[in-house]
Amino acid sequence: MDILIQNGTVVNHSGRRQADVLISGGRIKAVEEHIDAAGAKVIDAAGCFVFPGMIDTHTHFDLDTGSAVTADDFVTGTKAALLGGTTTILDFATQERDGSLKDALRTWHEKAKGASCNYGFHMAIARWDAETEAELPDMTAAGVTSYKLYMVYDALKVDDGAIYAALRAATKEGALIGVHCENWDVLRRRIGEVQASGITGPEGHPLSRPAAVEAEAVGRLMRIAELAEAPVYVVHLSTREGLIEARRAKERGQKVFLETCPQYLVLTDEAYKAADGEKYVMSPPLRKAEDQSALWEALAGGEIDFIGTDHCSFTMAQKKEFRSDFRKVPNGGAGVQHRLQLLYTYGVEKGHITLEQLTELLSHGAAKHFGIDDRGSIAPDMAADLVVYDPAAESIITDTNTAHNTDNSPFAGLAVKGAARHVILNGEHAVENGKLILSGSGRYVHRGPSGCEN
Ligand code: URP
Ligand code: ZN
Ligand code: ZN
Repeated sequence: MDILIQNGTVVNHSGRRQADVLISGGRIKAVEEHIDAAGAKVIDAAGCFVFPGMIDTHTHFDLDTGSAVTADDFVTGTKAALLGGTTTILDFATQERDGSLKDALRTWHEKAKGASCNYGFHMAIARWDAETEAELPDMTAAGVTSYKLYMVYDALKVDDGAIYAALRAATKEGALIGVHCENWDVLRRRIGEVQASGITGPEGHPLSRPAAVEAEAVGRLMRIAELAEAPVYVVHLSTREGLIEARRAKERGQKVFLETCPQYLVLTDEAYKAADGEKYVMSPPLRKAEDQSALWEALAGGEIDFIGTDHCSFTMAQKKEFRSDFRKVPNGGAGVQHRLQLLYTYGVEKGHITLEQLTELLSHGAAKHFGIDDRGSIAPDMAADLVVYDPAAESIITDTNTAHNTDNSPFAGLAVKGAARHVILNGEHAVENGKLILSGSGRYVHRGPSGCEN
């Protein structure tokens, strides 16, 4: 059935206007001042913003870290995403050290069965060698055109030479590499020092990984990318110092893209002092107010390209088990449902960014940089993924009033303005008046070349 969204303010990255949107056959058919469409299901968007479906560049659903399995899988995580206005997520298919990229992709396609929002995959490379390199064209053919390399974690870390070689190879392939930037050797030494000083609880986590641990790694990555003559992106950038390193590289003429996450914009490392401080153990850790301000300024100035949640949820039981040993607390937190609300409330309402910038950061920027050609804006012929966002709604996030399959939220206690009242997914009404009415209809997003735009 055709859908007509009437009387809303249509917001694209390039501007906003009062317009109706007609959806037919899974596509946007028309965006005009006034549309009559007999027989169409009408959604009244008066007083609401009509955004392109939001794209989350960074989720971990159904991830087994080796010591814990995430609370959200694709079934629960993608429902929460949709309810929050996210119509596409990019998750990380992850290569086993002794496995192939193809195996990992097959596994992640299996995991994603039954997804309720659209999904694509970055590929996390855990072993860089000739065999892995030879698989890159297969990944491109399969619609995977971005990769993540880790400078950390025993099961995933690759060395600087591997990063250099992978960057060169991926660039030839039209693929973009993102890197988790932290200095593993130094942070492990610091973990030892913090523990030796008698600090074993969650407050030890940020002490072991201060800003310089990220900044050193970002600076190093920038130089490696310069040598490789490759574009690169920094995954979950959290610090002012890291931003400065990326800025330097851009000033040298390098093509550098940046991703940050809501948690680094609205929370600080004060959280580790709370009674439930283990809830906030994630890597990179939460930072200081000055890092937050620098990231907001960078968002306002167009220096950050997209925002992902890094949704990687665990239950309090999983986290609390290691309350007295921060090294072992499973890293990560929930957030896939709240990205739009948090960025609208603490970004747009607080005057840091415009509605258009919000749209760029949460949707269009991801589509543009990750080869999703038919999503990220509201225009004729684009895929019909849309969100009708009611800015008048008000709520407070709690640990449990979410659709995440877990009992805690790092954002619990924060007031948010607005809510996704309606969500259209591939031309179908998926969320109606805040209720999920369509599940299991997510489609795989086969992506084209990434990293081509600056
Ligand atoms: O703590 C986090 N961020 N866990 C997820 C894995 C990662 O490094 O992104
Ligand atoms: Zn990471
Ligand atoms: Zn992550």
